[in-house]
Amino acid sequence: MNIILIGFMGAGKTVVARLLAKKLKFKVIEMDDLVLASSRRKSINQIFQKDGEIRFRELEIGTAKKLSNVDSVVISTGGGVVMNKIILDYLKQKGLVFFLQASFETIRERLKDDAIRPLFQDKKSASQLYKFRLPFYKKYADFKILTEGKSVNQVAQEVLDKLKKYENLGKN
Ligand code: S3P
Repeated sequence: MNIILIGFMGAGKTVVARLLAKKLKFKVIEMDDLVLASSRRKSINQIFQKDGEIRFRELEIGTAKKLSNVDSVVISTGGGVVMNKIILDYLKQKGLVFFLQASFETIRERLKDDAIRPLFQDKKSASQLYKFRLPFYKKYADFKILTEGKSVNQVAQEVLDKLKKYENLGKN
């Protein structure tokens, strides 16, 4: 069983994944790192600039395929994985999906100094992207967690609580 965190850029997937992995004694996997390693580039930004977003998405699909048979890991996904159903199909083979939801205002505040995310440099198109993607995050989520005003620890604890309830359901 794996834990998959989805959500928009800046939703807190990376920090929550690290803490969860520590608490569960699972390994943590940052999908972006694997995507980058599978490319010939030095940064995600460079993949976007030199190869284009479609190539980046292809690499994401290849990475998800490789991850479909790992076990006992917490996976922090890139914010755009919900744009390709096949990625979620791969990840869901062994994982439960948690959507970390934060408002666009909160995300904009968190990422106000961000210079590395290619799809967050123009705030207006990022806001449109947020609106466009929201129903997809909800569609693929097994569980939704509202992160607004909560600490990383609180969010991680909510994931664990939901996981426990889910596991207890299976026992009855
Ligand atoms: C993307 C999100 C990024 C990264 C890439 C594209 C997106 O990951 O995968 O820049 O399309 O939302 P984070 O969600 O970790 O920022």
